[in-house]
Amino acid sequence: MVMDESQQAEADIWKFAFGFITGTVVKTSVELHIQDLVAKHGGSISLSALSAALAIPADHLRRIMRFLIHHGIFHKTSDDHYTENALSRLFATGNMSAFMMLHGPPPPTLSGVTPQVLRTGKRPDVKPADGEDTWTDPAYGNHEKVFTDAMEAHSRVTTSKIVAHHPDLFRGIRSVVDVGGRHGMALSCLIKAFPTVRGLCFDLPEVVAKAPPLDGVEFVGGSMFESIPKADAVMLMWVLHDWSDNACVEILKKCKEAIPAHGKVIMIDAVVEEDGGEDEYYGARVSLDMIMMASTVQGKERTHKEFVRLLDEAGFSSHTVKNINTIESVIEAYP
Ligand SMILES: C[S@@+](CC[C@H](N)C(=O)[O-])C[C@H]1O[C@@H](n2cnc3c(N)ncnc32)[C@H](O)[C@@H]1O
Repeated sequence: MVMDESQQAEADIWKFAFGFITGTVVKTSVELHIQDLVAKHGGSISLSALSAALAIPADHLRRIMRFLIHHGIFHKTSDDHYTENALSRLFATGNMSAFMMLHGPPPPTLSGVTPQVLRTGKRPDVKPADGEDTWTDPAYGNHEKVFTDAMEAHSRVTTSKIVAHHPDLFRGIRSVVDVGGRHGMALSCLIKAFPTVRGLCFDLPEVVAKAPPLDGVEFVGGSMFESIPKADAVMLMWVLHDWSDNACVEILKKCKEAIPAHGKVIMIDAVVEEDGGEDEYYGARVSLDMIMMASTVQGKERTHKEFVRLLDEAGFSSHTVKNINTIESVIEAYP
């Protein structure tokens, strides 16, 4: 796709926003001696052999390898089979690997991609078994305001893409509840563009209690694992990627209970291409996946196949996926 200067800038901004994760993941690969291991196996290794040698779950390693390959470190030769290349050899012991050790440990919010956490599956301190992010957890430095501001910045960009590329999103919809809507920024932007829709922002009571009033946005506190206010449509933006597959199925079942037979659940999340691709946003999607691995317990960016599995288990009968020319796509699921 040919992009004009402002579209290219919107694609490029994510390289800077997510750039900090690259050094952390490459350093982890060096500390785990992945480059040495592949060389020792004659220059090529399967995911299962790598997982066994490192004692790290295959799913995590597959995602780390997907990220490294995007950055030119290793090739993927066949399904789940990796081959060394000039760049991976440069990160082997005795070459430039020692240079990566100049980086100190990552900040606690990124500890999920350190060798110790990858091996044990345990965060340095107690977290609930299923997630979600570490950014707002006081144990990790209480970045609550920074996190809210970051979410608002992202939701302004994403909603502008929705309005531009999916103007029919709310056709026939009179009310929408934004689950995990934080301080209501996404809803506020959407309601300005679709003024006939009634908007409810639903988030944890302690989160909505701090939300400043916003024109046209009603706030409701509660938990999506218990009950979601009823509306024609339920929206989940950057919510499912915080949670494990099991938790996502629970959330989706609650969303389904909240909508009528003609309603829908709207998910706004990255849909990662299975085998890379030419899309300008692919790099941002796999970087975001590393950030989810680093900052949540079980969260991840999902492929289309992985979304289908969740929707089937939650009992939805059909769905559509719409590309909106940004990191995320819009997935609409019908009861
Ligand atoms: C990654 S943020 C996404 C915020 C917003 N949707 C956006 O895209 O900017 C996830 C949100 O889910 C909320 N959340 C976490 N657990 C929840 C629960 N049990 N019920 C409702 N919301 C919850 C968090 O407070 C947070 O605001």
